[in-house]
This record gives sequence, C-alpha cells and structure tokens, in this order.
Amino acid sequence: MHQFLPYAWFGGKCVPFAEATLSVATHALHYGTGAFGGMRALPNPADGGEILLFRADRHARRLSQSARLLLAELQESTIHEAIGHFLRANKPTCPIYLRPFVYTSDLGIAPRLHNIQTDFLIYGIEMGDYLSPDGVSCRISSWCRQEDRSLPLRGKISGAYITSSLAKTEAVQSGFDEAILLNSRGKVSEASGMNLFIVRDGVLITPGVDQDILEGITRDSILELARAMDIPTLERAVDKTELSVADEVFLSGTAARVTPVRRIESVTLPAARPVMERLRDRLTAITEGRDSDYEHWVTRIRIDD
Ligand SMILES: Cc1ncc(COP(=O)(O)O)c(C=O)c1O
Repeated sequence: MHQFLPYAWFGGKCVPFAEATLSVATHALHYGTGAFGGMRALPNPADGGEILLFRADRHARRLSQSARLLLAELQESTIHEAIGHFLRANKPTCPIYLRPFVYTSDLGIAPRLHNIQTDFLIYGIEMGDYLSPDGVSCRISSWCRQEDRSLPLRGKISGAYITSSLAKTEAVQSGFDEAILLNSRGKVSEASGMNLFIVRDGVLITPGVDQDILEGITRDSILELARAMDIPTLERAVDKTELSVADEVFLSGTAARVTPVRRIESVTLPAARPVMERLRDRLTAITEGRDSDYEHWVTRIRIDD
C-alpha cells in the first residue's frame, strides 16, 4: 500500500490529500487525456531542512511539453512554483516520489482536446525501491510498444500506459518481474516504465530516440555520465538476441533508478556488472548531493523557512 503525503496540490493550492477528489465524469478518467511526470525528492542526508530534486528543470520541461502535446498550456515556472509549495506543505522526512499530472478536467463525454478545460495537480508517495536493486527477471512482452504515428511518445501521456500495464501484468502473471517491449519493427524499445541499456565488450548501448522509447531523463543522465567517465556509448537499434549475449543488461528510470536484469526469459545473465555499478554509484552520489561536478543537476529547496 502506498503511503501518501498529507497534502496534494489541487485547484491551485495545497489541500489535505483526502480532499483532493475528482468527479466520476472527469473527461481524462475516461479517455486517458492526461500527461504526468514522476520525480524523486529526498531530504538532504546532511541537512533535513533541505529537499533535493534530481534534474527538476528537465522534468518540468518534459511535463510542459507533454501538456503541449495535449494542446494544454502548462508553464515550466508554474510546475516549479507548485512543487515548491507542495514540498513546503508536506515537509517530507523520507525519500518521496512526486506525481504531477495535467489532465482534461471538464465533465462529460466526447474524446477531444479542443474546447475543454484542463487542470494540474500533484500528489506524492513515500518511495524506496520500486524494483529490487539486486536485479529482476524480464520476459519479452507479447505487447508491442506504440509508434509515434499513433500516439505522441515524447510525452508521458496517461492513456499510453495501457500498454505498459498489459505488459507488466503479463510478465508478472507468467512468473517474471518486468516486461521488455519490442517496437513495431521488432527492435528492443524499453521496459514497462524504464529505458534499457546493454553492455557489450565494454560499450554501453541503448536504443536510440528513434526506437519508440520515452526519452527518459535517467537515460539521458546515464549517457552523459558515461561519456564523462570515458565509457564508450552507442545509441542504436538493439536486436532481441543481443539481450541474451550481452555482458550486462540494466533498466533506468526515475522510479526504478538503475536496476540490473538478472535473467531474460530462460537466459541467466552474468552476475558481474562493472559498468552498471560504476554508473549507479555515481548517479546515487549525485542525487544525494554528494558530487560537486554535478551540482547543476540538483535543485535544493528549503522547507524550514
Ligand atoms: C514508459 C517509460 N519509459 C521510460 C521511463 C524512464 O524515464 P525517466 O528516466 O525520465 O523517469 C519512464 C518513467 O518515467 C516511463 O514511464
């Protein structure tokens, strides 16, 4: 069960979580016409009066762009301000996951994006590990990642998560932890809510932005870090059989952080993951505000003033 934070941002202000409720006729509930973000925030281990947000600017930009894909207007500055109010109201004392959501808030039927009111909310949950940091087993999904010509894949559009949900449940009900989805061209795309990396002969490889992936902020950070750490990187199409012969396979995402893949279908992968471990350690230090080289990736918000 989730532990929800006591206040939500709703209707332009912070209200008790239980009072942040919507009508059964809310348009987005029926048509999936919303877009969300997902950010982690944690109290600074060295100063509990300060909350650390990882790449808040990138998250706000992606959410604002997602809103634009739904023909809604949501300024990045509006998102930042709301997050500030939300954190100061909740004063979290443990790591949390923030869920901002922009959605068609009118009541009634007819799928559309024109002549319709939109609204913006944020709620939060306490969050530790989303997937086991020791590794997960994955199946290749029978569901295929959508294509950009049927759905705007560069936004986190809520309706799109039907495919993630089907794939995740299929994986879990057939004895695996996670699903890996191929795209309509049969190339590896991503997992149900994470991007995917493989390591072959010391080269870090991930499906490119033309492989129907969500352009993950963790993915982008890993690629940038790898280049700075002299790890060769390649963004290219990845074939399914490469997953079986890879030296390392791992998933990346805000919720999952960096999660190793132990097994894919019936193939057990090597237990040593030197490249992933270097990147994971560095990313952890950055998110905890312990890496001065990447201070610009961390937003610090005071909650005690
Ligand atoms: C479908 C999908 N792919 C990838 C990701 C990873 O993106 P990020 O690293 O920005 O959290 C997510 C999570 O937000 C996702 O929902």
